[in-house]
Amino acid sequence: MTNEVTGGTARPRGGREWRGWREATEEALYGPGGFFLRPEGPAGHFRTSVHASPLFAEAVAGLLVATAEELGTDEVDLVDVGAGRGELTAGVLAAVPAGLRVRAYAVERAARPDGLHARVRWTDRFPEGVRGLLFANEWLDNVPVDVAETAEDGTVRYVEVRADGTERLGAPVTGPDAEWLARWWPSAGPGGRAEIGLPRDEAWAAAVGSLAAGLAVAVDYGHVRDSRPPFGTLTGFRAGREVPPVPDGTGDLTSHVALDACAAAVHARVPAELTTQREALRGLGVSGGRPPLALASTDPAAYVRALSRAGEAAELTARGGLGDFLWLSQRV
Ligand SMILES: C[S@@+](CC[C@H](N)C(=O)[O-])C[C@H]1O[C@@H](n2cnc3c(N)ncnc32)[C@H](O)[C@@H]1O
Repeated sequence: MTNEVTGGTARPRGGREWRGWREATEEALYGPGGFFLRPEGPAGHFRTSVHASPLFAEAVAGLLVATAEELGTDEVDLVDVGAGRGELTAGVLAAVPAGLRVRAYAVERAARPDGLHARVRWTDRFPEGVRGLLFANEWLDNVPVDVAETAEDGTVRYVEVRADGTERLGAPVTGPDAEWLARWWPSAGPGGRAEIGLPRDEAWAAAVGSLAAGLAVAVDYGHVRDSRPPFGTLTGFRAGREVPPVPDGTGDLTSHVALDACAAAVHARVPAELTTQREALRGLGVSGGRPPLALASTDPAAYVRALSRAGEAAELTARGGLGDFLWLSQRV
């Protein structure tokens, strides 16, 4: 953590200049001129599974088809939460088989992009009474949260930040935030840090609560109680590079998601499932296996296509990469 008195520079204290990370992130990402409202969209700064390969949208289309079958219908809803510029929604619509009628919603805080498929309903809130698949890829990590740090005397305090990224310790964490930390992310001792996931639990519960029937899936880089990172994961991304987190609106601000806590915030009859993207995509038929060599001589063009798909599948399921993402699935 950068301290306010480092480097011998006198830094102003107090006033609205210092804010908790949740408030600072909210303004930097979604305030006037906020990072996610800019025209270039998230894809201008980082690659998600959606941009890595059309295989991802095809797999989600497969999940939508399976959900429709479970619901016993040929008319189904798709809700893409944190839709970016609607890339996944459009990709799924292009991949669903003829005969399945899909009502597609893109839930997003940014404005509707030009040229998006006319069938996509663009909205900034969850449609109610949906029957089908709600899918949120890399949404929850962008729901702003406060950061806590344990001081030398063992007190757990909010971390405050200025627009230039300088931090200091603020008031002790109390109330529901303290209860959340005690249950989900106990202090690792002086210097230990944690992101307080309560707003993400509430966001996920609201998303699942908007489903009348079907399946809700959140995909994100995450962790569970037994493996919390002792110093937290808050970081920045700008123009394709990981950078220090600075809440000035020029880059993404993100932290891994406590997905087990999100799961527990939903009171459903059917228990949630947590699995890796590697397993989830393999279950949906995405495999990194090479095509048979014999295909190269019988149909060289098909061989090259299959090889390229295998490479993309390998990226989506890679250890140490996208394959380690977690899929939180909740049936309603
Ligand atoms: C990392 S991007 C992911 C975009 C896309 N899902 C993908 O995987 O490429 C996160 C997106 O979530 C959106 N977002 C964050 N909070 C939101 C909210 N409460 N409602 C709707 N969209 C939200 C942001 O504006 C941003 O476009």
